[in-house]
Amino acid sequence: MEIPRFLLHFDVDRLQVEEVDLLIVGSGLAGLYTAAKAGERKTAILTKEKTEDSSTEFAQGGIAAVLSDEDSLDLHIKDTKDAGAGLCYSPAVEVLVNEGAGRVRELIAMGTAFDRIENNLDFTQEGAHSRPRILHARGDATGEEIRRALVSQVQHLDWIDLYENTYALEVVTGPEGDCQGILAFDRNRGGFTLFVAPYVVLAAGGCGHVYSNTSNPEVATGDGIAIAYRAGAEIMDMEFIQFHPTTLYQPGEETFLISEAVRGEGAVLRNKKGKRFMPDYHQQGELAPRDVVARAIFSEMQADNREYVFLDITHKGGEFLGKRFPKIYRKCQELGYDLQKDYIPVRPAAHFIMGGVKTDIDGRTNIPGLYACGENAGTGVHGANRLASNSLLEGLVFGRRIARQVEIEERRPPRVKAVKEQIARRRPIGDDRELWRVRGHMQRVMMKEVAIVRNEEGLRRALQEIENLANHLRFSYTRPEAWETQNLLIIAYNITQAALIREESRGSHFRSDFPQPEPTWEGKHIILGRAFKEGKKIDLS
Ligand code: SIN
Repeated sequence: MEIPRFLLHFDVDRLQVEEVDLLIVGSGLAGLYTAAKAGERKTAILTKEKTEDSSTEFAQGGIAAVLSDEDSLDLHIKDTKDAGAGLCYSPAVEVLVNEGAGRVRELIAMGTAFDRIENNLDFTQEGAHSRPRILHARGDATGEEIRRALVSQVQHLDWIDLYENTYALEVVTGPEGDCQGILAFDRNRGGFTLFVAPYVVLAAGGCGHVYSNTSNPEVATGDGIAIAYRAGAEIMDMEFIQFHPTTLYQPGEETFLISEAVRGEGAVLRNKKGKRFMPDYHQQGELAPRDVVARAIFSEMQADNREYVFLDITHKGGEFLGKRFPKIYRKCQELGYDLQKDYIPVRPAAHFIMGGVKTDIDGRTNIPGLYACGENAGTGVHGANRLASNSLLEGLVFGRRIARQVEIEERRPPRVKAVKEQIARRRPIGDDRELWRVRGHMQRVMMKEVAIVRNEEGLRRALQEIENLANHLRFSYTRPEAWETQNLLIIAYNITQAALIREESRGSHFRSDFPQPEPTWEGKHIILGRAFKEGKKIDLS
């Protein structure tokens, strides 16, 4: 499949230019925290819609960290690696866990109010954790609370500017292939700005919208991964897509997450006959790793020929549920479900990509000057399946490490003229309206063939469909929604390609034609890039 370097052609002489010291793409926890910690330097944060439109805002369950006397670093490391199914990169896991508690304390010092019982932090338990170590805020509004505290912090730092409605369209590289900045589209003005910076951090989140059924906000279209890939960055572990087991089943409506913490508080899963089925699949029952629970639900849905199973937390009283899960309680009530009396219909939805732009443990990509953190990055920390509530922690820990790199590395500011010369190209013009149909078709193909259960035949069918749709990559379109779809096609292609290459089942990647983990694949990661679309296999164990 032909993947273009740039999606548009530009009249570089008409570009507005902004020179900054640090440029961050994304206003979720990873981006805001990196900016807040990078010291006093002219910093721009680009976000394609409003600051609060990120996956952070939607995080219900919480953030995992070893802060209780009954817990230990070794246990958190073990739980992370066990969930990761033999694919976690140990140095990254050790960094995550060892530095995690310090970062969470900083978040508290910045004003994040986690829930407490009397004066002590209130820890809850989630799937595959051997101890209660999940902090939450305002019950199930953890992400909102963290975002509130971080935005208020960043707003007090007058060297940081937040550019809302600014879509990062291209990573711009110089004659030597190093990163020089970002070409962005300003939706308010309807024009392009070339942001030139010696340090560019991609913290643009995940790509849930490559599937028709996802827990992610609409902005999660994989732009950060795709623009890096087009610029020559290596991407890793793309086959590992985590499906969250429990999103509210309401066909035709936006997906709504029912936090894993609900199962942490004792909710059980039941099939059509009302039978509790998880103990038949795993000794940890409803608190088994997410990939196990998602596959069990999928299998029950198939057996029952239904699109959902039930979540039952009727053993808890209304007062507890209203206080512990106010958002979920309210949402269910609006739809006519009373959590203390009714079973709730739920089904899995695409939730998180374990892979992304390949980085080292300091957030560096293979392109000098380009960094990535949060869901945008592939550090190997999550292996084949992310442990619940490790994602906010990842954003903090690796964002902080990038901030430190920015302080100690000495990169010269790029020369604007040389940057401009790189981005003039001519391409035919396409019709933006067609790309909505293309997006819908791609999402359905991905959901059918490249979701919870995969096999070679289906993956080949998907690849063929994506390659047909990729004809649209040859044209230039005028709106961000069209560029998002082009980026999503690149993501879909790479997920499918990696899923075909990995002939085994491991964590979230399940192949019905290779249903067991294959020892020769343990510790091996698939790296994809423009220069090697067939994939490289590397050993990080
Ligand atoms: C949840 O609350 O279940 C989602 C949190 C996560 O993805 O770790």
